[in-house]
Amino acid sequence: MNDIISNVSDLFSIWNVTRAAAITSYLLLFISMLTGLTFKLPIFPKKSQKILLNTHEATGWFGLLFGMVHGLVLVFDTDYTSYTIFNILIPFTVEHNAISLSLGIFAFYGFLLLVLSTDFLKKLGKRVWKAIHFLAFPTFYAALFHGFLMGTDSQTIWMLIIYIFTGSSVLILTILRIVQAAQLKKKQVMVKKA
Ligand code: HEM
Repeated sequence: MNDIISNVSDLFSIWNVTRAAAITSYLLLFISMLTGLTFKLPIFPKKSQKILLNTHEATGWFGLLFGMVHGLVLVFDTDYTSYTIFNILIPFTVEHNAISLSLGIFAFYGFLLLVLSTDFLKKLGKRVWKAIHFLAFPTFYAALFHGFLMGTDSQTIWMLIIYIFTGSSVLILTILRIVQAAQLKKKQVMVKKA
């Protein structure tokens, strides 16, 4: 019986909870990026576009929530780290791994801004909202490099495959999106001239 209790408490140790929340947050934010970059593609019918947009918003919110759990739970870890709430909320307040840890803090604030700005879209106006939304790209890569540089699981082949797959898909889809937007602009100019 004691063995079972000790196995269960090992499984749900603070370190495992923060790792699980980190990877869940990262994958949800990846799905949010993926759906955000693809929902407007003409290959999808209108009905699917709505589902993709809802998925984009929901995964953004849940990703942020898991990101918050991942960061906050670290305050209770005494086995591997000794971060204070101050270290978790303010970038560059630790001595070791200051840059890689701060990338995670920036990623958290970046996603928070993205999610909140979407909720206040009407008040901000589309122009400001769009400018903020461009932050999604650096914010996502801040999370990727943060996880890769800090993560215990970066040593494993499956986590490396996840980073390579997610990082390259977001890059390719962003390029496609830029090309699509440029083509649309060109078409609009040609129609105006004709
Ligand atoms: C939404 C924002 C964030 C995302 C998506 C994120 C994602 C990740 C990922 C994927 C890992 C690797 C986990 C593993 O290999 O098991 C990681 C590790 C880590 N993160 Fe974050 N993170 C975020 C914010 C933060 C914040 C705000 C802090 C606190 C300052 C933080 C501190 C850490 C630490 C200490 C590790 C190493 C833990 C380990 O080795 O597993 N992260 N993060």
